[in-house]
Amino acid sequence: MKILVTGGAGYIGSITSKALEEAGHTPVILDSLLTGKRVFVKDRIFYQGDIADLQLIRRVFKDHPDIKATIHMAARIPVNESVENPYAYYRNNVAKSLELFNELVGLGKPKVVFSSSASLYATKASFEVTEGDPLEPASPYAWTKRMMEQILQDMASATELRAIILRYFNPIGSDPDLESGIYAKEPSHVLGQLVMVARGEKRSFTITGTDHPTRDGTGIRDYIHVWDLARAHVRAIERFDEVLAAVDAPSTIINIGTGSGVTVRELVDSFETLIGRQIPITEGPARPGDAVGAFANVDRSRALLGWNTEFTLSDAIASALAWASRRQDVLGYE
Ligand SMILES: NC(=O)c1ccc[n+]([C@@H]2O[C@H](COP(=O)([O-])OP(=O)(O)OC[C@H]3O[C@@H](n4cnc5c(N)ncnc54)[C@H](O)[C@@H]3O)[C@@H](O)[C@H]2O)c1
Repeated sequence: MKILVTGGAGYIGSITSKALEEAGHTPVILDSLLTGKRVFVKDRIFYQGDIADLQLIRRVFKDHPDIKATIHMAARIPVNESVENPYAYYRNNVAKSLELFNELVGLGKPKVVFSSSASLYATKASFEVTEGDPLEPASPYAWTKRMMEQILQDMASATELRAIILRYFNPIGSDPDLESGIYAKEPSHVLGQLVMVARGEKRSFTITGTDHPTRDGTGIRDYIHVWDLARAHVRAIERFDEVLAAVDAPSTIINIGTGSGVTVRELVDSFETLIGRQIPITEGPARPGDAVGAFANVDRSRALLGWNTEFTLSDAIASALAWASRRQDVLGYE
């Protein structure tokens, strides 16, 4: 199948494109390179432009009338930037996506797989969240994802649009051939910070928040190897009609995680075990807006997608470390 991948020059989009290819499909990339990297596109079919450039969207589908579905990943993502500049986030992630969806319906190409986020969930005492649990978006970025979910559900009820909404937990690592990965010069997420300390690019790792109501006081997340996440998209595309038939609805939401919660201290332990040495740790207060966290209940992803994770936390950490050594060659910077 030919699949339009918006944001296909980004971290998850490029790796998902590769997973599609490995499963025998053909990705068609649409990316403005707002943040994504041209080198991640490789020799794939590529249109550089904006998701709300409707002339361009029409041209893409004129050139490729055999595109069967769209994986919509294009978005602005740094949460702190969304707090500083909500306009750019609501405009790019919500207003422009709305135009894209309307155009897809008009073109008779209404199948959409959408990248949503576990950051929508309200904190729950058990930390294990199911798709029906209460939501409490804590940033403009998270609100854009919440709004997009609602828009997709409403449009699916009223039009031909059909949507599978994937709520990603915390993707880490690279693809098996280390061709794409995290490209932020200084990744702000926990594993990115640990990798920098291990490589001597930072003096110590700071655990931000040690009095959360978790088993050891530190934040809890569900770290998923990005290759497993990419494979989940392939399943969502291949089973698109079956999934919606099974739920008997024009749209549905599915958690994509491992089903295991890992605290920051546990992540540090796994990291140290893997590299065979301890790293300098300091402890500090939680940053404003830091979520305690959650991990996925994966019943729906298993039942509906027939998909499961194949990689362990240790595999994913090793992949992130290997990418950090490799990315100078790919991107030209460490
Ligand atoms: N990385 C995560 O931890 C995470 C977690 C949950 C959900 N997500 C979602 O997954 C998707 C992919 O995330 P990522 O980490 O690969 O981010 P990324 O920034 O690497 O990729 C996003 C891509 O979208 C492109 N883009 C942005 N606005 C565009 C526009 N208007 N038109 C065309 N292209 C545009 C960017 O150039 C970039 O290549 C996003 O929707 C993100 O919100 C990511």
